[in-house]
Amino acid sequence: MNLPREIRTERLLLRRWTRSDRSPFAELNSDKRVMEHFPAVLTRAGSDELVDRIEAHFERHGFGLWAVEVVDQVPFIGFVGLAVPSFEAHFTPCVEIGWRLALKSWGRGYATEAARACLAFAFERAGMDALVAMTVPENIRSRRVMERLGMTHDPADDFDHPTLPDRRRHVLYRLNRPTPLSRLSPRVP
Ligand SMILES: CC(C)(COP(=O)(O)OP(=O)(O)OC[C@H]1O[C@@H](n2cnc3c(N)ncnc32)[C@H](O)[C@@H]1OP(=O)(O)O)[C@@H](O)C(=O)NCCC(=O)NCCS
Repeated sequence: MNLPREIRTERLLLRRWTRSDRSPFAELNSDKRVMEHFPAVLTRAGSDELVDRIEAHFERHGFGLWAVEVVDQVPFIGFVGLAVPSFEAHFTPCVEIGWRLALKSWGRGYATEAARACLAFAFERAGMDALVAMTVPENIRSRRVMERLGMTHDPADDFDHPTLPDRRRHVLYRLNRPTPLSRLSPRVP
């Protein structure tokens, strides 16, 4: 399948990672506000390892967590993209949509704008049938992005995250590929 390497939106470029993204990524991963809902902030080494894993995911699947830049303004603000979870749960195998932005880039609609482009990539270019998103119940900002995308939450899907040390409870949101209008059966008069 011939998948685009980059995605352009009105304000953003979603692209593969470069060496120069590593330092600002380590900075946002060391920020307690950004990492409030994760088990811990990341060290520089931990942040670099995460970039290595993201790059390996791109090589394996042809898509991943894209580095996001604000065109002509900020060369790197974080990531938004798609990932295949490496753990097993009642909803796997699946593709997850996720995001992590530097604090100064919150409150501008960047996460939702980038995520909408990822939905179009997933459903219109990569032929995916469904996506999930997950977070802890308290991560209201992230849940609001999921809801703005039209994702829905069924409490019966909530789960204890198997790879976290405390197996923290997570909420799961789902979105199916929309049915094209042309495939809907005509209404009976
Ligand atoms: C989750 C996260 C990406 C959400 O970021 P965000 O900036 O709140 O989300 P959006 O990009 O959708 O922006 C929406 C906000 O921008 C505002 N906004 C400003 N200009 C806008 C514009 N031109 N278009 C759309 N929204 C705009 C909206 O009003 C909204 O503000 P509000 O939060 O005060 O209601 C961010 O909080 C984050 O990186 N958190 C840390 C990492 C994390 O927890 N990731 C998820 C783990 S599962």
